[in-house]
Amino acid sequence: MLSITDLTKAYGTTTALAGVSLSLSPGEMVGFVGANGAGKSTTMRIAMGLLAADSGSVRWNDGPLTAAGRARFGYMPEERGLYPKMRIVEQVAYFGQLRGMPAAAAAAAAERLIKQMDVLAGPRDNVQALSLGNQQRVQLAAALVHDPEVLILDEPFSGLDPVGVDTMADVLNRRRADGTGVLFSSHQLELVERLCDRVVIIRNGRIVADGTLESLRSHGARRELEVRVDADPSWTAALDGVREVSRDGTLAVLAVDAPDADQQVLAAAIKAGRVEHFGWRTPSLSELYREAMSVDAA
Ligand SMILES: Nc1ncnc2c1ncn2[C@@H]1O[C@H](COP(=O)(O)OP(=O)(O)O)[C@@H](O)[C@H]1O
Ligand SMILES: [Mg+2]
Repeated sequence: MLSITDLTKAYGTTTALAGVSLSLSPGEMVGFVGANGAGKSTTMRIAMGLLAADSGSVRWNDGPLTAAGRARFGYMPEERGLYPKMRIVEQVAYFGQLRGMPAAAAAAAAERLIKQMDVLAGPRDNVQALSLGNQQRVQLAAALVHDPEVLILDEPFSGLDPVGVDTMADVLNRRRADGTGVLFSSHQLELVERLCDRVVIIRNGRIVADGTLESLRSHGARRELEVRVDADPSWTAALDGVREVSRDGTLAVLAVDAPDADQQVLAAAIKAGRVEHFGWRTPSLSELYREAMSVDAA
């Protein structure tokens, strides 16, 4: 398990991180989201030892994270770090050797990964010849070649077309199923919602939310009921502390002041007519994100 505790980092007078803590367990996929400049890349670079924190710690399996521990990590930097003129398979194999693999094993793993990721290229092509999406796949292959136990991926999905996104998602899902912990940053909240076990939201160098979608939803400030009643729409008018947010035919979305007002709404619905649907509306991650961005804005 990777534990990052209380990281702070300033660049001159700019505070990039103001006490960032997060953890990553084996077999867990965590989405790291926040606006541009929130501190995602800085956190990841510090975790990878590419940048020193001003204070705080990065620990791995209950000990300090050493170079040997980091060799078990795979990293995809925000600024892609491929060599444009090196052939693709050789390049991926080279990254494997940098992480301590014997040459033959690195070459075999590179070959296998490039095939698995459907990189559209000839065996003799260099990286320069590839589309951006294919370069991205090669970059992921370079992060995976040594079979890391932890993956730290900075915007791995940016610039990919939908097929590229699916390929990347498949590869990550397979790694997670094999017990690899995956932390990735992304602006694509629907993707994070689809893929992740847990979401960490960072704002201005501080973590403002961390939890499963389920737990973030239950802490959400807004609570809305979805009720479908075969009745005249006016049945909601007399309800106290209830506001109709939207209506589509017989389906009403109702904002309630108090969570226990749901029983009062249900009773009124039953009285009005046949209740065909009744339940809490599930907010999307983008709604939860907007909420996290607006709560006690500093
Ligand atoms: N090398 C740098 N020099 C000066 N400021 C930096 C540098 N890298 C990042 N920053 C600043 O640190 C803050 C966090 O940046 P970053 O970690 O890149 O955010 P994110 O990846 O979430 O977009 C921003 O205010 C950014 O401008
Ligand atoms: Mg970044």
